[in-house]
Amino acid sequence: MAIDRFGRNIHYLRISLTDHCNLRCRYCMPEDMTFRPNAELMQDEELFLLVKLFAGLGFDKIRLTGGEPTVRANIVPIVRTIAQTPGIRSLTMTTNGVLLGKLAAPLKEAGLQRVNISLDTLNPDRFKKLTRWGSFDQVWQGIEAAESAGLRPIKINAVVVRGYNDTDVADLARLTLERDWQVRFIEMMPFGGATDLQKSNVVTTAEIITRIENAVGALEQSKDVEMDGEARIYKIPGARGEIGFISSVTLPFCAACTRARLTADGKLRLCLLREKEVDVLTPLRAGLSLEQLREMILDGIWHKPWGHGLAKGEIATNRVMSEIGG
Ligand code: 5AD
Ligand code: SF4
Repeated sequence: MAIDRFGRNIHYLRISLTDHCNLRCRYCMPEDMTFRPNAELMQDEELFLLVKLFAGLGFDKIRLTGGEPTVRANIVPIVRTIAQTPGIRSLTMTTNGVLLGKLAAPLKEAGLQRVNISLDTLNPDRFKKLTRWGSFDQVWQGIEAAESAGLRPIKINAVVVRGYNDTDVADLARLTLERDWQVRFIEMMPFGGATDLQKSNVVTTAEIITRIENAVGALEQSKDVEMDGEARIYKIPGARGEIGFISSVTLPFCAACTRARLTADGKLRLCLLREKEVDVLTPLRAGLSLEQLREMILDGIWHKPWGHGLAKGEIATNRVMSEIGG
């Protein structure tokens, strides 16, 4: 088991498969983003070896992220191999949905269990503006493909940005009236790269809730689960689906954190919002033994930072979001 010095059991690994993306969401990366050359990324065999190592340390839950994980070459065989790794009980993906139209069914068949799909607005013009060139219709088809392939329950992630989609939150919330989806509203977090927008256009959970309640009436706290991972769960009374709020800025969930991250270039990132990382790929390539790698990982986890300093204005700037995967 991997335990940190605060007694947290770290067993959830988020793996960024690539820093590349087929969109350029304004809250995530600059338009002229330069990506890493492939040789710097974990190659398939390196990835599989690390997954096995983490599974041996008690990691049982993996989420594949990016950039955009579906643009990684061999994504279907990668999912299949990870799904078949002994010890991995949960395998999910966070995706922008652009390629799900053709990939949802093969991914499901390969062993992927669920997807979280980013969708910040139902308005095609504003969707294009926020993602710089994304097609709302294409993503919507991707969501429908995911649902029919059985990648359920569908979770939708919406990052709320003032001036871009803050007026659209009620429409997104209403999706849950007829669908058993979980629509989650995410407070924008400041990072390296796109920080001006990220600092000045944050919309807090409190404001998002007010906007939704003004349009649909009072929300009720969900009876089934109060928390789903990092999300606080509510419902529109009588709705089929749920509404979640991820309030990383105003209400951090660090005390209950069970996660670690592996960046696409093979660094163990201990906290999304702290710069501390342990390079595991370079030692792996240098021929370090599995036992030594295991010790390095356990030592890194032990020193996982307690939490982030967003409330104090401390911002991690060594990477943009797309290199860590959220
Ligand atoms: N703040 C919060 N969430 C972000 N994401 C990307 N950039 C940010 C940011 N600045 C989220 C998107 C996507 C996931 C990959 O990361 O919602 O779902
Ligand atoms: Fe790509 Fe996701 Fe970042 Fe948008 S948020 S640019 S879809 S990685």
